[in-house]
Amino acid sequence: MDADFLIPVLWEWLEFAVRWLHVITAISWIGTSFYFIALDLGLRKISANEDGIAHENGIAGEEWQVHGGGFYNIKKYTVAPSHLPEHLTWFKWEAYATWISGFALMAIVYYLGADIFLIDDNKMAMPIYLGIFISITSLGITWIIYDVLCKSGIGKSSNLTMVLLFGYIVVLAWGFDQIFTGRAAFIHLGAVTATIMAFNVFMVIIPKQKIVIAALKAGETPDAHYGFVAKQRSTHNNYLTLPVLFLMLSNHYPLSFSTEYNWIIASIVFLMGVTIRHYFNTIHARKGNPIWTWFATLGLFIIVIILSVYPAFKGNMNERAEITISQANLTKKQAELAKAENFDEIVEIVYTRCNMCHAAEPYYDGIVIAPKHVILETELDVLKHARQIYVNSAISHAMPPANLASMEIAERILIAQWYEKN
Ligand code: HEC
Repeated sequence: MDADFLIPVLWEWLEFAVRWLHVITAISWIGTSFYFIALDLGLRKISANEDGIAHENGIAGEEWQVHGGGFYNIKKYTVAPSHLPEHLTWFKWEAYATWISGFALMAIVYYLGADIFLIDDNKMAMPIYLGIFISITSLGITWIIYDVLCKSGIGKSSNLTMVLLFGYIVVLAWGFDQIFTGRAAFIHLGAVTATIMAFNVFMVIIPKQKIVIAALKAGETPDAHYGFVAKQRSTHNNYLTLPVLFLMLSNHYPLSFSTEYNWIIASIVFLMGVTIRHYFNTIHARKGNPIWTWFATLGLFIIVIILSVYPAFKGNMNERAEITISQANLTKKQAELAKAENFDEIVEIVYTRCNMCHAAEPYYDGIVIAPKHVILETELDVLKHARQIYVNSAISHAMPPANLASMEIAERILIAQWYEKN
């Protein structure tokens, strides 16, 4: 079997497999993290014998839970139990595996596919290796800035830290949008935030927990400061979770990432993360029912919707610089596809069968923005998206959806031959 067929097929399946893994690990991480936050907030301080059960000393609170046919009695010790149990279940691989699989997925989609997904020549032309370098560096730098902030005097004020962190996120959202495609800008904002979260577990929460355990084993009283630091970081993680999920899903919705004010939209999402989490945190702590948070969330969401379509803002949203094939950075494969004898014919097929939806200004009824922001209206677009066109309309018949554009089998075969033979 030849490579021109095998590579796109394996690429597609590798991406799917890693995405599957990433979603599974993320569910486990967020699941345990939400569970423990709710548990912690909901612990009841029951005085001894109130429920007829004697209580040990040093218990901060407990909760009775019923799940899957069993009853569970969970107790939390203020700092640590008087003697360490032999078996201790740790929760860390959920976080590590989510970060590792997420980074792998980012590499597959945005580094291997950098020419269409990471770098936008209309915004800022740069060689692929530079784009990848900026991407990786941004993850490291953000972690360092955040960590220094938390450890500084400012870190003692939880609210001030959050406000400064938010300011940084807004700057970052704007900055990413200046250098990367809108889609990559959103993913990167999500990825740096998720890196903060995973590194909080890896570099702070787990190491501090180990220090506490070592102290206990040595018969010493652990420093309560470690508890404070771990709590601070897990509170940040709690508020950052929902925005990260939004950003990770955003690539399906071009109105979010490829409109003029996308960076403001991304920033507002972080505020919605706070209003939504605040509701659940309050409920779980049994401190009331702050319905106002839902109105705040709805208000923010409406602002997001307006920002994505407000005509006055739409201005140059669809402006694309004219870049000719000779000016563009093409891969060897793409250059060969451009030289193919029947290239003109392929371009014609794409124009007639795809263009009504995949254009800067689609004219298919009900489509207001190019789906997934895949725009196919120049020869260069066709070359840059060649692999996707091949996978979506030649190997599979995913496109046009329900064959709305009446694409003929002969045309699919032509695309397959064009891609495989060049
Ligand atoms: C009737 C409108 C319409 C036509 C015509 C159409 N598409 Fe699409 N295309 C869509 C929609 C809607 C989506 C988003 C699907 C989704 O959300 O999974 C999409 C998604 C895509 C994607 C992104 C797939 C992904 O998962 O990243 C590619 C690539 C694509 N289309 C290529 C084509 C090609 C090539 C043609 C012509 C042969 C074509 N489309 C014709 C509506 C259309």
